[in-house]
Amino acid sequence: MPASKRAANRTPRREELNPIEIASRDEIMALQLRRMKWSLKHAYENVAHYRKSFDAAGVHPVDLKRLSDLAKFPFTTKNDLRANYPYEMFAVPMDRIVRIHASSGTTGKPTVVGYTKRDIQTWADVCARSIYASGGRRGMRVHVAFGYGLFTGGLGVHYGAEKLGCPAIPVSGGMTERQIKLIVDFEPEIIAVTPSYMLAILDEFRTQGVDPAKSSLQIGIFGAEPWTNAMRAEIEETFDMHAVDIYGLSEVIGPGVASECVETKDGPTVWEDHFYPEIVDPATGAVLPDGEAGELVFTSLTKEGMPVVRYRTRDLTRLLPGTARSMRRLEKITGRSDDMMIVRGVNVFPTQIEELILKDQRLAPHFVIELRREDRLDTMTVRVEARPGADEASRAACDRDLAHHIKSLIGVTATVETVPPGAIERSLGKAKRIVDLRPTD
Ligand code: DLL
Repeated sequence: MPASKRAANRTPRREELNPIEIASRDEIMALQLRRMKWSLKHAYENVAHYRKSFDAAGVHPVDLKRLSDLAKFPFTTKNDLRANYPYEMFAVPMDRIVRIHASSGTTGKPTVVGYTKRDIQTWADVCARSIYASGGRRGMRVHVAFGYGLFTGGLGVHYGAEKLGCPAIPVSGGMTERQIKLIVDFEPEIIAVTPSYMLAILDEFRTQGVDPAKSSLQIGIFGAEPWTNAMRAEIEETFDMHAVDIYGLSEVIGPGVASECVETKDGPTVWEDHFYPEIVDPATGAVLPDGEAGELVFTSLTKEGMPVVRYRTRDLTRLLPGTARSMRRLEKITGRSDDMMIVRGVNVFPTQIEELILKDQRLAPHFVIELRREDRLDTMTVRVEARPGADEASRAACDRDLAHHIKSLIGVTATVETVPPGAIERSLGKAKRIVDLRPTD
C-alpha cells in the first residue's frame, strides 16, 4: 500500500518561522502596544468617524497607556462602515489606495475596504504565513478555488502563495467539472476553498470516477464560513489530506487574520502582531478574560488604508493560549451571532446540525435548514441528502433518526426530509444554510 499523503512530518523548524511568531508574550505585547498607539492616532487624525466617536466617548489616543486601556474606546460596527459608504472610513488620500474590495453581506449596502501598497504587502505576508502554517512550502502548487473579485478570498490567498514562493493557480469558484480536470492535470499539492465547495468538488470526483484519495492534494486550506471538526474528518479521510482552518474577514484585511497550524490543528492562531483580538460579552460589550466565550472584536495594528478600531465581527468564539506558536488561538469558530437561530427559545447553529448529519453514515453533508412560522410557533425543517444507494424506506428511517438526535441532543423539534443525492443546491463559495421564511414582524 502506498504511504499516506499525511504521513510526512510537517512541523516547521523554528528558524524557518518569523521570530515574532515564537517570541515571548512580553515581546509580543510590547510590539502590540507600540503599534496600537500608532493605529489609534492614525484613525483619529485621518477618519472623521473615529474622531467623532472617540470625542463622543471622551477618549483620545493618548489615553492608551497599556493594552487593556483599549476597552475605553468605542466599538466599530458594520453599520458604521455602511453609514460611511463607500470611502469615508479610508484614512489616506485615494492616490495612496491601490486596491478596493467589498463584502456583499446578506442585506443592505456592501462594506467597502481599501488597501495601500504596504497593506497589500502585509496581507500577502500574513497569508504566506498562514499557508506555511498549514504545511505549505516553496514550490508547492496552490489551486485557489476561493472566488476572485470583490470577495477577498481569491486574491488574498493568491498573493500569499506567490509571496511564499508557491505557484498560484487562480481557478476561482465554479465550473466544477473543470476544477477536477485542473487538479488531475496540474497536480497541485494544496487547495484553498470554502469547505462547502470542497464537498461539491468531492461529488464531482466521484461522478467522474476519479479517486480523491489518489489525487495530488496533500493540504486543504478551508475557511470563509463555519465548519466543524466532523467535516474536517470527512474531508481528511476521503482525500487523504490535511484539512486546515483559515480565518479572516474583509473589514480586518481578508483571509489570513488567523490560521491553524497543521501540526496541532487546534484552532486558528491569530497573527497578533497585526490584529489585536478581544472577546466581549455580546450583550453588554464588557471585555471577557481569555478562555471565556463571547464575540470576537479586532483592532488593526498596522493597517494604513482603512484602520479598524474594536471592530465587532459577530463571530462567537474564545481566545485560547498559544500552542504551536506563542500567539493566541481562536477556538474553531462554529457560529456567528447572525447565524444563530432561536427556535422556540432554543439557540441553534447550523454547525450543530452539520455535526449530527456527519455522524450518520447514510447521510451526505449537504443540507439546508428552513424556518417558518405556523400558528405563531417557529418550525424548523432540515433538508438533507442521502448518500447514493438509499431507497425510500431507508430515507424515511433517516428522517426519524436525525429528528430524534436533533431533539435529544440540541433540544428542538425538527422535521427532517432526507432527499435523494444531488437534490440540494451546491454553493460555489459560502454555503447558505438557513432559509428563513418567518415573517419579519
Ligand atoms: O470570508 C475572508 C476569508 C476568505 C476568510 C477566505 C477565509 C478564507 P468576509 O466575506 O468578509 O471575508 O466574511 C467574513 O466569514 O466574519 C466569519 O463569520 C466567516 N468566516 C471566515 N473564515 C471563517 C472560518 C472572508 N475559518 C466572515 N471559520 C467572518 C468560520 C469564518 N467562519
